[in-house]
Amino acid sequence: VKRLGILTGGGDAPGLNAVIRAVAKVAESAGAELYGFLDGYSGLIRGNYRKMEKRDISGLLHRGGTMLGTNNRDNPFNFPVQEGDEVVYKDMSDAALENLEKLRIDRLVVIGGDGSLAIARELTRKGAKIIGVPKTIDNDMQGTDQTFGFDTAVTTATEALDKLHTTAESHHRVMVLELMGRYAGWIALYSGVAGGADVILIPEIPWKMEKVAEKILSRQKEGKPFSIIVVAEGAKTPEGEKIIRETIKGSGDPVRLGGISYRIADMVEKVTGFESRATILGHVQRGGSPSPFDRILATRYGEAAGMLALAGEYGKMVSLRNGIITWVAFEDIPQGCRTVPPDHQLIKAARNIGISFGD
Ligand code: F6P
Repeated sequence: VKRLGILTGGGDAPGLNAVIRAVAKVAESAGAELYGFLDGYSGLIRGNYRKMEKRDISGLLHRGGTMLGTNNRDNPFNFPVQEGDEVVYKDMSDAALENLEKLRIDRLVVIGGDGSLAIARELTRKGAKIIGVPKTIDNDMQGTDQTFGFDTAVTTATEALDKLHTTAESHHRVMVLELMGRYAGWIALYSGVAGGADVILIPEIPWKMEKVAEKILSRQKEGKPFSIIVVAEGAKTPEGEKIIRETIKGSGDPVRLGGISYRIADMVEKVTGFESRATILGHVQRGGSPSPFDRILATRYGEAAGMLALAGEYGKMVSLRNGIITWVAFEDIPQGCRTVPPDHQLIKAARNIGISFGD
């Protein structure tokens, strides 16, 4: 009997359960067993797992989050270990490999973002046999055209923008909506366009307050005394400062971004005289039921990962290229985050319909 393993790593994203379900269904049809490691890589290191039964995956498709649990701190190569009163960080990657061997897992499916899949690549170099599935609401992964979770996040952000519009209009205010995306502006760009934003500020395009003010004041002249600004959390201030809310020890992600919208709201009030309010949408963007698009993408990724695993392949990430599901070798995935190209077609279209990028 073939034995597959599966884990979800990093921040959650709508569609994780849909991937798990698809892998489980493919495994079941082939008569293979599936073992789910709990809470990301820590389950693999500590040997915390559950054998997945048919009943475990029923009702899973539309459920947000991950039934396996996840975390974005525990890196096997830099793993927190309690020693007396102290927590020390140690390379525990051998323990991960030993557990795979002990359980006789033939192939491991890792559903994760760039952090978790970089770890998967390192473990593969040490001998683990892993298939990766790209996940993140940020849509910033190299090696694929789109990650699952992004479409749902954009939908949630667009709904928020629709709601902010009515209150902005009623109070003649400028509303600033801060969206996730880490160092990339994908969520801000897509939901800004979908939600009819007047200004979109993203990390990829340096901006100036005068230009933002110009847009707000020209709208006022047109008889529209309210505006909507969408800002990506990773956008810098006009002075080039990144707003960091927290520095996280031991994390694959060493900083937590957030708070730029308050700075912008204050600047807007000062420069334009318009009353302004900031909203940070936060983790709402990561929660809830996946959109139909994300359910389909997650299902396609899960099916492809399961089939690759059963075929004995490894060291590959499933990927979406021009609408087709394919795969890319871990070693061929470029390093770093996939940011929005400043000449992206949607940016050009947005500019042509009058959206300002503050530049
Ligand atoms: O990568 C997903 C993401 O939601 C980013 O958009 C955000 O910067 C980060 O994770 C937040 O991390 P945490 O859940 O640890 O606060």
